[in-house]
Amino acid sequence: MFSRFFKKAYFVLSVPIAILFILNSKQIHKDYKLNVIKKLYLGFRMFLNTLRIQTFTSYKAHLAMGLKILEAPPDVPGDIIEFGTWKGGCAANLSLVCKIVGRKLVIYDSFEGLPEGDPDDREAKYYEKGDFCGTLEEVKRNISKHGNIESCEFIKGWFKDTLPHLDSPILLAFLDVDLEESLDTCVKHIWPHLVDEGYIFIDEFHGPDYCALFYSEKYWKKNFDQTPPGLIGAGTGLPLGDFYIGPWSERHTHPTWHANAGAFTRKDMSGYWAYYPDEKNE
Ligand SMILES: C[S@@+](CC[C@H](N)C(=O)[O-])C[C@H]1O[C@@H](n2cnc3c(N)ncnc32)[C@H](O)[C@@H]1O
Repeated sequence: MFSRFFKKAYFVLSVPIAILFILNSKQIHKDYKLNVIKKLYLGFRMFLNTLRIQTFTSYKAHLAMGLKILEAPPDVPGDIIEFGTWKGGCAANLSLVCKIVGRKLVIYDSFEGLPEGDPDDREAKYYEKGDFCGTLEEVKRNISKHGNIESCEFIKGWFKDTLPHLDSPILLAFLDVDLEESLDTCVKHIWPHLVDEGYIFIDEFHGPDYCALFYSEKYWKKNFDQTPPGLIGAGTGLPLGDFYIGPWSERHTHPTWHANAGAFTRKDMSGYWAYYPDEKNE
């Protein structure tokens, strides 16, 4: 009881500090004229939106993605894409950032919830077909009310059917798709379209098996003939002022743990072990 109250108080009181710490960057492009007041205004809107629209992603994750978008110079091409939107909670917040920078937010979803799980997909056992269903009308309503609908485009359908038609450059993609099969489809289609310093953020950062895709030498060799890019925040999420030790399966017995905000890779990153001194003379 006490620890739950303590956690909530910390959560609310730390909002302005989190906003200013996360957006404290000398790289935010000067064209966006984002002074301290505007940063706080944006951050508070994003925080409130996560209370207004049902979502399991944190405003800190949204701010972290917002930061990367604000840091990209305006002449770098690329859309912002969300794969998996549910009720549009994160999309509403990303749309506010897209309005500032004048980029398009493209939202891919079935708008019917999750697909039937593939028996080979280890994540599928945790979900049912139709989980996390938000209809297109519901998502549009939420974004119109709390975000900037003018920045948004909606692509309805299963990723395996819609993604082969993707053909524009991507600056940042947010993958909140739960299933391994969906993650695999998204990465395979997105990676070739990411700009040189383009980002992929994921939400399933607490699952080591899921994160392993970004370190798998086999996966990257087979699909892209390259070494893996790695993942910042793998296993714990980005360290944005919360307390989490893990593993995820033990979170219920640690009432003040809160695994934080997403993990990301970037097109130019590397997550590859190459030091094998015993093989030098082989
Ligand atoms: C956890 S929810 C997304 C939550 C949302 N990003 C947020 O911040 O609130 C997962 C979403 O992924 C979508 N999804 C997962 N796999 C999909 C697939 N293969 N095709 C289309 N949509 C998919 C579901 O419809 C659902 O809306």
